[in-house]
Amino acid sequence: MDEVVGRTVLVDTMLVAALSRWPGAAVVNLGAGFCTRPYRLDLPGCREMVEADDPAVVDLKSRILHDRRPTCPVRRIPLDVRDGTALDAVLAATGRTGPVIVVTEGLLVYLPPPALTALAGTLAAQRTTVHWLADIVSASSATQMRDIARRIPGGLALFGLDSLAPLEDPGWQVVAYRALPAAHPRYGTSSRALVDGVLALDRQQPTR
Ligand SMILES: C[S@@+](CC[C@H](N)C(=O)[O-])C[C@H]1O[C@@H](n2cnc3c(N)ncnc32)[C@H](O)[C@@H]1O
Repeated sequence: MDEVVGRTVLVDTMLVAALSRWPGAAVVNLGAGFCTRPYRLDLPGCREMVEADDPAVVDLKSRILHDRRPTCPVRRIPLDVRDGTALDAVLAATGRTGPVIVVTEGLLVYLPPPALTALAGTLAAQRTTVHWLADIVSASSATQMRDIARRIPGGLALFGLDSLAPLEDPGWQVVAYRALPAAHPRYGTSSRALVDGVLALDRQQPTR
């Protein structure tokens, strides 16, 4: 639980910093779930918050929050992020009126490596998508989480990372990496092992 709260606080801070770098940007929050960031946080310069998730989640959240006033315009859309064509259309439409910052908090752990690489590629394909905030879970943490998830009826498929290649190869570069407070390399792992944390990524600049 501490890790989830720490993760959310890091994303809050990094998102406010990103919005001051790109004033007037829209934020596309993929796998937004029941995140209430535009209700509990001032987001100066946020043109619009687009929240995407499973249709049932979007519907329930809209009903729960119907009488709450957000600090920036909020639009909710049903979307499976593995549907590259639908995601591309959302990014293209949102990017028509200015830069787009993407947030994926708590989402990537549900995507198997090919789906993660495809997602990173779809985000990189839209030039107006300028920045991406993503938390990452290491392969060793995902193994521990899977052991706990096994107790849930039906189980849960969870995937960790042992390198940043699935994010970097499709066209992103890490510009900030904040480890979660509770994250630390386990004894015996290489000093280069990934630790759970939140990344800020920019589009890779073309090499001349
Ligand atoms: C752990 S929750 C995180 C919610 C929120 N971002 C937060 O940090 O509080 C993961 C969310 O991702 C959503 N999700 C998982 N797979 C998805 C997919 N393929 N497409 C869209 N949303 C997905 C789930 O429905 C859930 O709301």
